[in-house]
Amino acid sequence: MIKKQPGWVLPDLREAQKRTHQDSKIEKALFSIPVQCQDLGRGKYYYLRTYGCQANERDSETLAGIFEALQFQPVSDPAKADVILMNTCAVRKNAEDKVLGEIGHFKQLAEQNKDLVIGLCGCMAQEESIVQALLTTYRHVNLIFGTHNLHRLPELLYKVMITKEKCVEVYSKEGDVIENLPVRRFGKHKAWVNIMYGCDKFCTYCIVPYTRGKERSRQMEDILEEVRTLKEEGYREITLLGQNVNAYGKDLGIEGGFAKLLEETAKTGIDRIRFTTSHPWDFSDAMIEVIAAYDNIMPFIHLPVQSGDSDILRIMGRRYTIEDYKRLFDKIMAKIPNCAVSTDIIVGFPNETDEQFEHTMDIVDHCKFDNAFTFIYSPREGTPAARMDDNVAMDVKQKRLARLNERWNQYALEKNKAYEGRVVQVLVDGPSKKNESAYSGYTDTNKLVNFEANGIHSGDIVNVRITQARTWSLHGELVEEKDK
Ligand code: SAH
Ligand code: SF4
Ligand code: F3S
Repeated sequence: MIKKQPGWVLPDLREAQKRTHQDSKIEKALFSIPVQCQDLGRGKYYYLRTYGCQANERDSETLAGIFEALQFQPVSDPAKADVILMNTCAVRKNAEDKVLGEIGHFKQLAEQNKDLVIGLCGCMAQEESIVQALLTTYRHVNLIFGTHNLHRLPELLYKVMITKEKCVEVYSKEGDVIENLPVRRFGKHKAWVNIMYGCDKFCTYCIVPYTRGKERSRQMEDILEEVRTLKEEGYREITLLGQNVNAYGKDLGIEGGFAKLLEETAKTGIDRIRFTTSHPWDFSDAMIEVIAAYDNIMPFIHLPVQSGDSDILRIMGRRYTIEDYKRLFDKIMAKIPNCAVSTDIIVGFPNETDEQFEHTMDIVDHCKFDNAFTFIYSPREGTPAARMDDNVAMDVKQKRLARLNERWNQYALEKNKAYEGRVVQVLVDGPSKKNESAYSGYTDTNKLVNFEANGIHSGDIVNVRITQARTWSLHGELVEEKDK
């Protein structure tokens, strides 16, 4: 155990597990740049690397916004940076190993430059054991902060850069809603919009409720204002973000909150609206109706199933049976025209039998998902599943994963084949770096389309005729002039 230094705030798993009945505070004026920090980044460079989910992507846009408010400039080579910051993910061990490997490489840079700041933030920083490892084994890391205190970046940087003290500040309290932080959006036409933070589902395998705190929603008006501003700035697509967007507004006492929010967002008239992630539990009929009713809500739903076996789902704490899932899936397909559905699946949950795994194959056969993210179960310290004995050998889990991947790939190709000959609308991301007339973009159903064109721009919505389908992408040709 490392000796705690004065001023350090270390992560506390027990604190992170707690949920009180207190409402979250909405902080609108928490962020400011102290006078002594105003020139902190002048002539200096930051390197920011992001791992994990869209919540982290969006957080990185805030971090970049703060860096740039402090006059730092971005750099893509860590060897040229004055500050290296890794915004990390803790959801599986292999995600963490990647980050630790990368941080190992930075040791040399730290030896060459005594003033170098090497920081780690995000979900890994919320873990007790990771912070212990950073303080004992990765001593060149001199800045550690968590998911609840991005707004403290100016002061924390000041501490490491000017007073040269190692700085550890990780809050494990349940979390508040902090508005009005700076933001430097990475995309010009597509933007992430947080609608809520945290998670209260406590699926037994998952670390997110501990790393992100309790479920707490932003005020609907703040979200809508952000969407309207994005639209005015020329953004064409927004994705509403939350660990479980269906629970939006519950903490604010808004009945049917997410369906209402979706509808109000649609009324702003922004071209494309996406949302992620929807837990199958709590997916209301009202949501399905709103998605079906508005053309600017994209017919694409990420609906993680996790397992095809009701007993495993129960032990996972998912709150639905596989029959419930099937019913919901069928209803979505019947009511939302041309809807695509993707999913997440975990194989090799503790003691998963061959038969239980076959049930997962069955649900894939039933749903024929457009896309799937498949994972081998990874025990996460502090979660209930990590305390379960597991009699399934790793090579069995690997074989299951390979079979599962083969199966869903087959259906994804089948689904994509149905697009051949069809004309689809594509929001253009841009030309490829290598070939200026090779463009790519996404359909309303979130299919990647590669196509040849001239005289169009990223951000245009164009019609493309699909000529060839592959497992992960469609290929096509431009059929008419851009719409605007
Ligand atoms: N809030 C989202 C998921 C966030 S994590 C939801 O509930 O759908 C993304 C995915 O990672 C999960 O859907 C799950 O499939 C996977 N995952 C989470 N914890 C995991 C673990 N311990 N081992 C393997 N996969 C895990
Ligand atoms: Fe994790 Fe479950 Fe919450 Fe998703 S809903 S973040 S899987 S605990
Ligand atoms: Fe990873 Fe944290 Fe997202 S654990 S998946 S970055 S919420």
